[in-house]
Amino acid sequence: MKREVIVLAAGQGSRMRSQLPKVLHELAGRPLLAHVLDTAQALQPVAVHAVIGHGADAVRAAFSDRSLNWVLQAEQKGTGHAVQQVLPALQADARVLILYGDVPLVPLPALKSLLEAAGDAALALLTTELNDPTGYGRIVRDADGRVTAIVEHKDATPEQQGIREVNTGILSARVSDLVRWLPRLSNNNRQGEFYLTDIVAMAVADGVPVLAETVADSLAVQGVNDRQQLATQERYYQQQQAERLMREGVTLRDPARFDLRGRLQAGQDVVIDINVVIEGDVCLGDGVRIGPNCVLKDCELAAGVQVQANSLIDSSRIGPDASIGPFARLRPGTVLAERTRIGNFVETKNARVGEDSKINHLSYIGDAEIGHDVNVGAGTITCNYDGVRKSRTVIEDGAFIGSNTALVAPVTVGVEATVGAGSTVTRDVPARQLAVGRGRQKNIDHWQRPQAEKDH
Ligand code: UD1
Ligand code: CA
Repeated sequence: MKREVIVLAAGQGSRMRSQLPKVLHELAGRPLLAHVLDTAQALQPVAVHAVIGHGADAVRAAFSDRSLNWVLQAEQKGTGHAVQQVLPALQADARVLILYGDVPLVPLPALKSLLEAAGDAALALLTTELNDPTGYGRIVRDADGRVTAIVEHKDATPEQQGIREVNTGILSARVSDLVRWLPRLSNNNRQGEFYLTDIVAMAVADGVPVLAETVADSLAVQGVNDRQQLATQERYYQQQQAERLMREGVTLRDPARFDLRGRLQAGQDVVIDINVVIEGDVCLGDGVRIGPNCVLKDCELAAGVQVQANSLIDSSRIGPDASIGPFARLRPGTVLAERTRIGNFVETKNARVGEDSKINHLSYIGDAEIGHDVNVGAGTITCNYDGVRKSRTVIEDGAFIGSNTALVAPVTVGVEATVGAGSTVTRDVPARQLAVGRGRQKNIDHWQRPQAEKDH
């Protein structure tokens, strides 16, 4: 049967107490809704319909690159009313799966199995058991265990409130059934809303089979209504990622202090110390070691690279056995060859550094091309920006740059050339020559320091 997916994302999320629409709050560095849309699209439905209302413009703008059917629910009158807005856009012979924009981590296998179990005819519900079911719709079953209704928490009798099996909100129904049921919903209930959940009793009355699949890991299907639940879902997600990486052969010094906000591909025997944040696409070769408090974003580190504490690497490529940090900042466009060494308080940007070259202390190397076996002394600065243009600095193989050198770009230091410490280099230095560009030192004999006047 053809499949369509509806994602409900029109609610205000008032308990977030936020200017931002709830579904744009981030989990693992991406909006909640992005996780749900990924899941929806992974099911390869004929269409994904997203119902938006509160903050509709912001939500739509955040996902302008996706092919979705946006449906506006101008007033939020309940989940049943929300689905009703999509009816005209649905194909009559299809089956729909309804997901919630604020339930971000529903596992794909659970959805596939729900759809499979639903077959052609049934109304299929995804349920779970909670120790504290407060706030959730309860799954009401008859003496034979058949589902007869969903009762919302606020409408439930004290006895029904004792039921621990709850509605996750995720369900699948035939379009042909929804077309019959939704117009018949009433808002005669404690919240004055049109509840989608009321279709369960309608299905029972119509003789449509109702089946409920239970997800054992209830955290996976929990929603985000406030910031505490957002943190709970974040931790759940991070724990899952950490467990997967450890299964794949990564050592995490503390899986509770590791955050993946993107994708990490890691070789064998990678060791990651505490408080490391991974963003975007990161690839770590065999034996890479990452020290504590590092942020790695969109970068590739070859085998054997060592990154020491408190380093930031963004959009860079690092060759085998290089050593970075502590306190290094590699900005976009940094490409380091084998065995390079970047030490403390060094910032690089748009810079290529050849094999075995060292920039060990307190330097800024931007828009630069550095050959192999170059030694860049402490405090070397490439002056790459004149206020208008960026210019390049070239340092050729085997050159030696003395400490506290300012290289005023565009400028080239030739092969095996040397620059004396404290120089300001404004002209090219030919190969193998020494450049000294600084004021000459004068020593003054019998120099009397100014004396402070004594107080009387
Ligand atoms: C809903 C279910 C409840 C279930 C719980 C699971 C109903 C009546 N109740 O309750 O059985 O246990 O989810 O989390 O369905 N939304 C709209 N338009 C609206 C109202 C809501 O798009 O008019 C969207 C919200 O943005 C949200 C989702 O639907 O993504 C759920 O709405 P919410 O108000 O959070 O429902 P709950 O009271 O949590
Ligand atoms: Ca909710």
